[in-house]
Amino acid sequence: MSSLPIASYSDGDGDTSESTALSLNDLVARRYSRRATIVGGLKAATLAAFGGAFLAACSDDEENMAPTVDAGADASVASGAAVSLMGTATDDGTIASVAWTQTSGLSVTLAGADTNTATFTAPAVSEDTTLVFTFTATDDAGQTSTDTTTITVSPAAIAFGAVARNLDDTVTVPEGYSVSVLYALGDPIDSATPPYANDGTDPSFATRAGDHHDALYYFGLSANGNGRDDSNSGRGLLVMNHENINITYLHPNGPTVDADGNRPEGEARKEMEAHGLSVVEVSDSNGWSVNRGSSLNRRINPMTPTVFNGPVAGADFMRTQFSPDGTQGRGTVNNCANGFTAWGTNLTCEENWAFYFRRDPNIDNANRTEKEVTAFSRYGVVSSTGNYGWVTVQPADPEDTAFSRWNAEVSGAAATDDFRNEPNQFGWIVEIDPYDPAAAPRKRTALGRMGHEGCWPSRFIEGTRPAFYMGDDSRGEYLYKFVSSAVWSPADADAGDRLAIGDKYLDAGTLYVARFDEDGTGTWLPLVFGQGPLAVGNAIYPFASQADVLTHARLAADAVGATPMDRPEWTAVNGISGEVYLTLTNNNARLRPIDGTDAANPRHYNDPNPGGDNYGNPNGHIVRLREDGDSSEATGFSWDIYLFGAGSDLDADDINLSGLDDTNDFSSPDGLWFSRPTNLGGQGRPLLWIQTDDGAFTDRTNNQMLVAQPGSVGDGEQATITNRDSNGTTMEQSTFVGAQPGSSLRRFLVGPNECEVTGVDSTPDGTALFVNIQHPGEDGDPGNITSNWPANQGGGGAGSRPRSATIVITKDDGGIVGF
Ligand code: FEO
Ligand code: CA
Ligand code: CA
Ligand code: CA
Repeated sequence: MSSLPIASYSDGDGDTSESTALSLNDLVARRYSRRATIVGGLKAATLAAFGGAFLAACSDDEENMAPTVDAGADASVASGAAVSLMGTATDDGTIASVAWTQTSGLSVTLAGADTNTATFTAPAVSEDTTLVFTFTATDDAGQTSTDTTTITVSPAAIAFGAVARNLDDTVTVPEGYSVSVLYALGDPIDSATPPYANDGTDPSFATRAGDHHDALYYFGLSANGNGRDDSNSGRGLLVMNHENINITYLHPNGPTVDADGNRPEGEARKEMEAHGLSVVEVSDSNGWSVNRGSSLNRRINPMTPTVFNGPVAGADFMRTQFSPDGTQGRGTVNNCANGFTAWGTNLTCEENWAFYFRRDPNIDNANRTEKEVTAFSRYGVVSSTGNYGWVTVQPADPEDTAFSRWNAEVSGAAATDDFRNEPNQFGWIVEIDPYDPAAAPRKRTALGRMGHEGCWPSRFIEGTRPAFYMGDDSRGEYLYKFVSSAVWSPADADAGDRLAIGDKYLDAGTLYVARFDEDGTGTWLPLVFGQGPLAVGNAIYPFASQADVLTHARLAADAVGATPMDRPEWTAVNGISGEVYLTLTNNNARLRPIDGTDAANPRHYNDPNPGGDNYGNPNGHIVRLREDGDSSEATGFSWDIYLFGAGSDLDADDINLSGLDDTNDFSSPDGLWFSRPTNLGGQGRPLLWIQTDDGAFTDRTNNQMLVAQPGSVGDGEQATITNRDSNGTTMEQSTFVGAQPGSSLRRFLVGPNECEVTGVDSTPDGTALFVNIQHPGEDGDPGNITSNWPANQGGGGAGSRPRSATIVITKDDGGIVGF
């Protein structure tokens, strides 16, 4: 921030300066009972009214005159600018004191208010806002004069040059920014673990960074590292998900099987360990690094003991050989996006867990009830192998069920003799206390079971029930929100037993699913047992209890008539307005045919790259909604579509509806995050960060991250577009298109080859941005390495295997990233 002089200060040598203004000042002060002196425009008018002769006649009056003051010219600045108000005061005697005060507009804190030059930081605003300041001078006779100046503050605006689309095997950021690699696959999290060999020989990931870095969140630590300090931007804990693995690079020559076709125990255990989450302490001392010696460092993986909380804990269909009472579990898997709480905990979300289980319907359905078959089919628990063949491992210890637990087929006499119910233990929101490495993660069943992408909270407002917004990422799935039963009490933010506060807010409440109506409004439909179709009489799935409704939330949402969406990914909440944004990453023609569109999922078109025709909604969009009354408790909302993904070359009338150009075109939005309200990036008109996980635009650019400054719901217009399918059929569809972003949307980062950009957070002050790069080089293998990132970031690295990694982005001038 640079100092912005509003008026040049002159060391007013008042008594010797026979200026016209001084004489006039004396005159006006005398004639008008010594009330406030006026300078500027009125000065000329007054001069005209009284005339030069009168002025001259009074100029040698020996009476002590009031001071002459000038508050300087009016000015315009942007939020965040350092502003200096410079007043001048002259007098025929001496100036006893001066003072700056604010007389209207958004209140600011003035430094040096009792001097000629007062300074303040232009506050965050969402639209042009005027602030008026008064400069007062008092002379040795106690006479005062004042003048005012008006400062117009405009919203801070993104101010970097857009990064060009590119296919370079590196992370590209704008000029004036720097990238460093902080935490990559295999990095040790303690001092005893040797450096990562990165050739497939490392035997374990129990004390190393996992793979497929996804969502992340920064939790501040006190300066000495002993406890929580949300505001510390120099030391904190990064909590991040390791969603999945690039299995081929975890072994010397890819995964193997033994002579019987079974996976070796050591390989499978290593693959499990590379899943889950990391909690790692990081600090900034001339650059960011991981503190390997921290006692808070922790890996959570699919074997970590977990606890079930909420209405589903202990249900019959949760019982397993491992947990006969259905209250205990092992680990978490395929953790995708995330959320946080105001009481200092992390929420991690189980997404594509279903594919890790073996449950061949041709074998198992005969041993299941009709309800169970319906439920497992709806959730996709229908694999005849299970991911990575973990279930085939024959462990050295025959009592070890770490591998057999992935076999969800009925094999024993009762549910407590096998793992037929193990899939019901996944698909939940999991709360983790990052500050207590010994605390078992709690699965919060009141928030429902699905392919959870994320779980982002509403604003926490005293006396209001907080809400958590959750996408269910599969084609045609829904947007949900959970509204707590407990009203927010700010005292809970600092409680010592954080998971107990989680019990209060996350174990009881109402789960809703969204219906988007054609008129631009929507309804939150409650998923409550006994209401409407959520009852034993339901012909498709006879619901037996609230636990049944929550565990089979997808079936409940089907029954109440929720709106199927184009793959709901992340949600983000504008911390100022409370508006909720949801990425809908893409959808193919099979599930969104031309007659299957609706106002909230309106497009059906062709994006013919790469590799031939691609019909449906291959580029995705971002819908946003505003709760009625701006309340997290609302049961209704209004909505529009903030942004449509598209290449800039696609048809402007029906496809590229947001008018994207070469500086900001994109496809398949996924990660989504508003800058934190603790710094200017999240204030006024907050920055929205958009990350892509794309296959439709990758012929033109690697995956990317953009920054935007959106307006609000309803800032655009209703439009009717013409959809076209592969047969040449056309159909019209009405929708609500947000205002075109223009230059308020810009490409900030392009990632390396074959990566997805996902996961973003900053320090509270916004000067360090943490971003995750997931699965670079995912299409290659040890014999055909297709990315050398991150070893090649900044040069070198030839031949290196690719690694998912967390990067830190800083602005070279130390400012807030994005401005
Ligand atoms: Fe794990 Fe829907 O992305
Ligand atoms: Ca005087
Ligand atoms: Ca994702
Ligand atoms: Ca991915």
